[in-house]
Amino acid sequence: MIELRNFIKNIRPYKPGKPIEEVIKELGLTGEILKLASNENPLGASPHAIKAMSDRIDDSFLYPDDNCYYLKQRLSEQSGIPVQNVIVGSGSVELIELIFKAYVNPGDEVIMSEPSFIMYRIACQIFGGERIAVPLKAYHHDTEAMIERMNAKTKIIIVDNPINPTGTIIRKAAMDHFVKTVPPNVILVIDEAYHEYIRESDYPHGLDYLKKHQNIIVLRTFSKIYGLAGLRVGYGFGSEEIIGAMMKVRLPFNVNRIGQIAAGAALGDTDFVEASIENNEAGKAFLYREFERLGLSYTPSFGNFVLVDFKKEAKEVFEAAQKRGVILRTVYEYGLPTSLRITIGSKAQNERLIKVLEEIL
Ligand SMILES: Cc1ncc(COP(=O)(O)O)c(C=O)c1O
Repeated sequence: MIELRNFIKNIRPYKPGKPIEEVIKELGLTGEILKLASNENPLGASPHAIKAMSDRIDDSFLYPDDNCYYLKQRLSEQSGIPVQNVIVGSGSVELIELIFKAYVNPGDEVIMSEPSFIMYRIACQIFGGERIAVPLKAYHHDTEAMIERMNAKTKIIIVDNPINPTGTIIRKAAMDHFVKTVPPNVILVIDEAYHEYIRESDYPHGLDYLKKHQNIIVLRTFSKIYGLAGLRVGYGFGSEEIIGAMMKVRLPFNVNRIGQIAAGAALGDTDFVEASIENNEAGKAFLYREFERLGLSYTPSFGNFVLVDFKKEAKEVFEAAQKRGVILRTVYEYGLPTSLRITIGSKAQNERLIKVLEEIL
């Protein structure tokens, strides 16, 4: 056996779930499969994006624009953040990796919640960082405990707001205090993969802190509300210093040509974004009512997914739902063996989900 680098010996790889086609074959399923496992948009992709991609598909033989010139321009216009403070990546997961790649020396400490988005742990391990895992407090980030764990070795603090997999948020007062307390030599990553879904006035938008705090980087994605998960386009906003460091360690042409075109078009598709928010709100209200009727315990969510605690080994529910053609997300690798994370679907999908859960339970 060829020996691996020390840091990566203990990595448990990210488990995205099998392709639907394989699950169908294995279980001999018939009928339409409903996948509510990856927080994709049940309305599909933004129609503006589809049109733009179709118009330009013939250009696929050309390399992409290495600097994502037009997409960065669009992101800058939309956000009011200067273009030199914008970075685009192959999904926001690439940007997470670039931050660690640029900044984490072996032994540097990285503070994150346990559980939070699993890629933080994996990126930290790849680069030999020392992971400081702070337990959630009643399913919420415990920012006070994170502050207490800071010391001279702390290099990065990373939070998802809202958290995948619980869907809860850090509220404004707590975030104000948090950003003020994290010293300028520590990078604070605020991952806002689901921020567009949030209408709560007490939700702190990371961009509001950027002017005053050069150590913050805000991550966002086209995978969720814009419905472009398959194209792998994520983006981030931060100081020129941090963006410059990340640009140094990325590989050329990291964002594919069609993805750049689609993302630029999707940004202007406000009707689609509105429809996605409305579908999500209506779906959430319906699911909460139905979970309560079924006596199921859930965590109220600000994302496009809900964490449901079945109070027993959730794998049983997962497998029973899968046999009925409904694919949900187990979260035992997040330390939540009795829960499943369920993406909020369309009206018909949510109704089917509830019917299936009712049968199983
Ligand atoms: C909190 C969080 N950050 C980032 C991502 C990754 O998104 P992308 O598809 O942009 O890599 C996800 C995806 O599930 C997520 O939940």
